[in-house]
Amino acid sequence: MIYGFCLITPVGSHRIFLNDPSFVQRLFFVRFRSSAIAAQSFILFPKLKRFWNRKANTMGDAVLKQCIMASLVFIFITFTKGKTMKEAETIYPVHQLIRKRWSVRSFSGESISRDQLFTMFEAAAWAASSMNEQPWRYMYAMRENTEEFKRFHSCLAPDNKTWSANAAALILSLAKKTFTKTSALNKHYFHDVGAANNNLLLQAAALDIYGRMMAGFDVEKTISEFNLPEDLEPVCFIAVGRLDVAGKLHEPYHSREREKRSRKSLEEIILN
Ligand SMILES: Cc1cc2nc3c(=O)[nH]c(=O)nc-3n(C[C@H](O)[C@H](O)[C@H](O)COP(=O)(O)O)c2cc1C
Repeated sequence: MIYGFCLITPVGSHRIFLNDPSFVQRLFFVRFRSSAIAAQSFILFPKLKRFWNRKANTMGDAVLKQCIMASLVFIFITFTKGKTMKEAETIYPVHQLIRKRWSVRSFSGESISRDQLFTMFEAAAWAASSMNEQPWRYMYAMRENTEEFKRFHSCLAPDNKTWSANAAALILSLAKKTFTKTSALNKHYFHDVGAANNNLLLQAAALDIYGRMMAGFDVEKTISEFNLPEDLEPVCFIAVGRLDVAGKLHEPYHSREREKRSRKSLEEIILN
């Protein structure tokens, strides 16, 4: 029991306790997890060592040793080959979907269905917008449509081109600058498209699809390639697809993919 706990805790605490934790559990496991793991290993390691050096007198001992070996192999595989999961570590109990979404670069090249993509577009369409103008517009290319995918891909900045080639789809997010009824400038057009894009990526996360927005693209080329009218401004491209291991990326993307996600503290962003 105690040995099982020793093995499970470092790996499993995040999964087990952070899925639906109380505030105290969260505080403990987010803030003090590393020191808790270190302390636990320090106390339990000698016991484990003594147990290991003991002859396997009983069938139970032998089975337990086999289980421990299997667990160690599992832990090794998880840490070295596992897909990078970068759930947000939060102090307050933020919704699981918000914690789950992160900006992925390593895509598996697997397809996603048109229904899944359109579910994401529909989620985007339900964002709030100034005067309900809904200034968001989208164009997309599925990976299977090779020529179209290449056309979208060719508009990206060199950095973004490298890792996004394995995405299942590339989306071009556009913003209509003026109100349709009055033709007056909509001051909030970019704001509202950002809100829609965030909805899109949260819906994607709910479908186990990840994405990364890209402001790094050739604006002039995009405008001419897609023959965009003056009133439509390209906001960003979004690569979406299934997650793959960070290990398949070259540097510097490999290290970046494994970097811990970080955010400003609430004290920095809440000004009163
Ligand atoms: C409007 C916008 C533009 C971005 N442009 C790029 C980009 O060109 N290339 C890139 O690798 N990431 C880009 N990102 C991703 C951000 O770097 C990423 O969202 C940020 O580091 C936070 O990481 P997270 O989304 O995993 O929390 C962009 C994000 C946004 C919202």
